[in-house]
Amino acid sequence: MHLGVCYYPEQWPQHQWESDARRMAELGISRVRIGEFAWSRMEPEAGRYEWAWLDRAIEVLATHGLKVILGTPTATPPRWLVDLHPEILPVNKDGITLNFGSRRHYDISSEIYREHCARIVTQMVRRYGTHPAVIAWQTDNELACHDTAPSYTEAARRRFGGWLAARYGEVERLNAAWGNVFWSMEYRSFAEIGLPNRTPTDANPSHWLDFRRFMSSEVASFHGLQGELIREHAPGRDLLHNFMGFFTSFDHYEFAESGLDVAAWDSYPLPRTEVLWFDDADKHRWARTGHPDIPAFNHDLYRGVGKGRMWVMEQQVGPVNWAPYNPVPKAGMARLWTWEAFAHGAELVSYFRWRQAPFAQEQMHSGINAPDDKLTAGGHEIAQVARELASFDPTFDPAATAQVTQARVAMLFDYPADWIVQIQRHGADFDYQRLVFEWYSCLREMGVDVDLLPATADLSGYRLVVAPSLPVVPDALVAQIQAGQAHWLFGPRTGSKTADFTIPATLPPGPLQAVLNVRVSQSESLRPSLRPAATFDGVRGEGRSWRDHVEPGPGVDVTAVFDDGVPAVVQAGRVRMTTACFDPALQRAVLERCVRDAGIEVLTLPEGGRLRRLGNLRFALNYGDTAWRVPAPEGARFVLGGRETGPSDVAAWIEMH
Ligand code: GAL
Repeated sequence: MHLGVCYYPEQWPQHQWESDARRMAELGISRVRIGEFAWSRMEPEAGRYEWAWLDRAIEVLATHGLKVILGTPTATPPRWLVDLHPEILPVNKDGITLNFGSRRHYDISSEIYREHCARIVTQMVRRYGTHPAVIAWQTDNELACHDTAPSYTEAARRRFGGWLAARYGEVERLNAAWGNVFWSMEYRSFAEIGLPNRTPTDANPSHWLDFRRFMSSEVASFHGLQGELIREHAPGRDLLHNFMGFFTSFDHYEFAESGLDVAAWDSYPLPRTEVLWFDDADKHRWARTGHPDIPAFNHDLYRGVGKGRMWVMEQQVGPVNWAPYNPVPKAGMARLWTWEAFAHGAELVSYFRWRQAPFAQEQMHSGINAPDDKLTAGGHEIAQVARELASFDPTFDPAATAQVTQARVAMLFDYPADWIVQIQRHGADFDYQRLVFEWYSCLREMGVDVDLLPATADLSGYRLVVAPSLPVVPDALVAQIQAGQAHWLFGPRTGSKTADFTIPATLPPGPLQAVLNVRVSQSESLRPSLRPAATFDGVRGEGRSWRDHVEPGPGVDVTAVFDDGVPAVVQAGRVRMTTACFDPALQRAVLERCVRDAGIEVLTLPEGGRLRRLGNLRFALNYGDTAWRVPAPEGARFVLGGRETGPSDVAAWIEMH
C-alpha cells in the first residue's frame, strides 16, 4: 500500500524541486509520476535532446528516497513536430482536422507519428531504463481520451484495409459476412473500403463493428510499440498505462495482452457523478462524495484488466476543472477514496496533482497543495492516511492482504457489447454501461463483493456469474456453463448478434439456447412512458427501455410475467434470464434470489454504506450522511476506526475465515 503523486517539475522553477521532494517524503509519499507531457522540454527541436533537467529532477526525487514512475511524453507532440508533419493531426468523426494547442493532437494510426514516438521513447529508455530510482513506466497518457480514437484519417483508412484483408482473406467473404448485397454496398477489393463515418444515413453495422475492433487493436499496438522498447531497455520495471473510468473506446482486456504489468486508472469520483447518466436527484445526493459505486466499479474492473495488479495513478484530491459543476469534496472523502482503493486491491494510490498550477488549462484544478504551496484540505487528509498506514495494526496479516481475495460473484464486462449497443442502440435509453453499473450497484448494496471479468475468463471458481447483457455469446462460455456448478443470470439483448453483427439463425439468445431453451421472437425498445409491470418473489416493479419477447421451450420455467403476458424472468436449472431492463426494486429482487441460491449471504446496508473484503480484513466505507454501526462480529479486532463509522469515514477489522 503505497502513496504517490503526479508531479510536473518542468512547470516549476528548479529551486523549488528540492523543497517539493522533501515535503513529499515528509508527507508519506513514496512514488512520483513525472514526464508524461514534457516532450517540448525533452526535445525542444527536432533531434536536439535536453536531458539535464530531467536527470536533475529524478536525482532530487531519488535523494529523498522517492521512486519514480516515468511517463512517455507522446500525448503531447511538440509544435515543431506538427509543423514538420501536419498529417499526424487527428481527424474527428465529422471529418474535421483538429489543431495543435491542447493535447492528444495526433492520429494513433499515423505511421510517421509512431516512428517519432519510437524515437523519443528509445532515447528515454536508453537514458533512464536502468536508473535505480525509476521503478515503472507509463506509456502516453489516457490513450483515446478526448475522443481521439477512433481516428478518421487517411492513414487509418489504409491500415483498416490491411486489417480487413488479414481478417477476411477474400473481399467476397467480407461482402457475405457484412451482407453488402443490401443497398448495393458490395466491394471489389479491400482498397475500395472506406471508413464508416460521414455517410448520409447509418453505415452498415458490421462495417462499424469491424472498424471499432480495428481501432481497438490500433490503441493496443500503439501502446505495445512503446512497451516493447521499455521492456527491452528497462528490465524488471513495471509497465503500465493510466486508463480512465467508464471508458470503452478500446477493449482493455485486449490492450493488456499487448504488454502490461499493472492496470492503472485515473479516479475522479465527483466529475464522473456529474457526467454519467444519473438523474438530477442522484447527482445532487452524491455531489460531494461521488456515487458510492463509481470508484469501486472501476477498481474491480481494472483489477481484472491487470490480472490482479491495479493502481490508482491519478486520484482526485479536491475540486477539479472538467465537469459542468465542480464542487469541493465533503471533508473526509480524499481519505475515504484512498482506503477504498486499497480495500479493492490497489497497490498504489497516487494523487493528482502535487500543486495546483496557476496557469493554463487546468488552473482551476486543485491538488495536494494550493498554488501558494500550502496544503489543501485534501492534502491534510492524505497526511492522515500516511500516518494511518505507517502505524497500521501489526496483527493485520500483510501476506493475506497482499492476496486479493477472489469474490464469489463474477460480473462479465464486455467491451464489444458496448460497441454493439452504440452502433445499433435501437432504443434511445438503452445504455450498456448503465445497465452493468446498476446491476453492480445492486449487488454492492447487498454487501456482495464482485470481480469484473471478460466473457473469455476462467469462471470456474465463482458461485454466481452475472452478465447484464452479452450480445455475442462465445461458444466457450456455454461450455463453461455446462461444465460448472455456478448459477448464472443473463440480461436483455444477450445472444442477440453473431460476431459478424447479424441476427443468429436460431434467433436470440443464439448459442445460449443450448442451456436455456428460449426463442426471442421480437424485441422492443420502450419510451420512458411505456413501463410494463411484473412481480418477482412478491416484489412489484417495472420493465424499462428494452424488452425481449421470449417464447419458452420445453424445460424452461417462467418465474415472472409482465401484466400483458410477456415473460419477465425465465429459468432452466442454474441459468436465468431477465428479458428487460428492470427498475431498481425488481432488479434487486432477481439478483437477491440469485445470490441466495448461490449460497451467498445478503446484507442490508444503510444508504451509502459499502463493505469490501481484502485478505483477512473487512472494510466498511460510509458514503452516507449518518453514523453506521458496521456489521463486524462481536469482539472483532478493528485495525482502522471502530464499530460506529461516521459519515465519510472508514473502518476495517480482522475477519477470521
Ligand atoms: C486526467 C489527465 C490529467 C489531468 C486530469 C485532470 O484525465 O490524465 O492529465 O488532465 O485528468 O482531472
